[in-house]
Amino acid sequence: MEKQTLLSELANDTLYGLISKPKYLLSKYFYDDIGSSIFQDIMKMPEYYLTDCEYEIFDTYKTQIIDEIIKNNTLFDLIELGSGDGLKTKVLLNALIGRLINFRYVPIDISLKANIDLEKSLMYEIPSLKVKTQTGDFFRVMKNMNGYSGLSKVILFLGSNIGNFTDDEISLFLENLSEFTHSGDRVMIGFDLKKSPELINQAYNDPHGHTCRFNLNHLARLNRELGANFYLENFEHHSEYNPQSGEVKSFLVSKKTQKVYIEALEENIQFYKWEAVFMELSRKFDFDTIEKYAANYGFSVVNHFTDKNEWFTDSLWIKK
Ligand code: SAH
Ligand code: AVI
Repeated sequence: MEKQTLLSELANDTLYGLISKPKYLLSKYFYDDIGSSIFQDIMKMPEYYLTDCEYEIFDTYKTQIIDEIIKNNTLFDLIELGSGDGLKTKVLLNALIGRLINFRYVPIDISLKANIDLEKSLMYEIPSLKVKTQTGDFFRVMKNMNGYSGLSKVILFLGSNIGNFTDDEISLFLENLSEFTHSGDRVMIGFDLKKSPELINQAYNDPHGHTCRFNLNHLARLNRELGANFYLENFEHHSEYNPQSGEVKSFLVSKKTQKVYIEALEENIQFYKWEAVFMELSRKFDFDTIEKYAANYGFSVVNHFTDKNEWFTDSLWIKK
């Protein structure tokens, strides 16, 4: 117990995950500097349709989105959770600035590098934008920011980041969001929708190997930051979509019986041949579920903005 209280959060979470049966690692730790950059490679691949769909939605509906989020031209906070490189948000930011709308952009991300890069690119691309980045876990930052300004809020949670949460985490997240917002505040959440299982499987089993590298980088991060001695070639990536549950589950599977020493934990972790470590959940949604989420946490759905194929929706809610 004492050892655990002295460990970093990454070390603690890794210890719990790897001594659990079955083993797991938390997907929020994918995003160190290298992981954030691999994720950008994922977003650029044609198989990862999510980014193109959401970009299309923002590009097509930016005027309508703005009309529906702006009450009057008084200063408001546009807060983005897990902003990453802000690729799609920039479409909205440019349109808001173009209409001389008065707002501050507050991107929150666990990756310091993502925030630094985003801030630099915004200084260059939209110099008149007021930006205040926050680095940390958005659950914690949201709690700390409660009451941080009296301004009304528009909250963005894009990219189907919500799909990486378990049912309990979705409930906790929506509870926090409900506490964090006041009547009239707007929330826009990107949900990847259920669709042909073939398309979904291609997005998470790409021929370029980026998704595999993304997963293996988690182990490489443990080597770098916790002094672990994972041999990456001893693990195989496997992802699979279950069309009944709507869940893509990703695993790293140990190709042999092996022991891995993790210096920061002073622990040897045993892996059996073909034992799988659960790495990430990427859930796919339907409109019924989304409407229930909104209603259960005190929001009304204003609009579901979808791409032309209805593969993805950005659902705009207003706090009652
Ligand atoms: N919203 C962006 C990026 C998606 S990638 C888009 O749609 O393109 C997910 C982003 O969320 C990454 O930048 C990652 O660093 C961040 N992230 C993941 N878990 C997080 C957490 N718990 N708290 C804050 N940021 C998180
Ligand atoms: C960030 N998140 C929504 C991505 C997803 O689709 O679940 C992360 C990802 N994992 C593998 N590919 C992309």
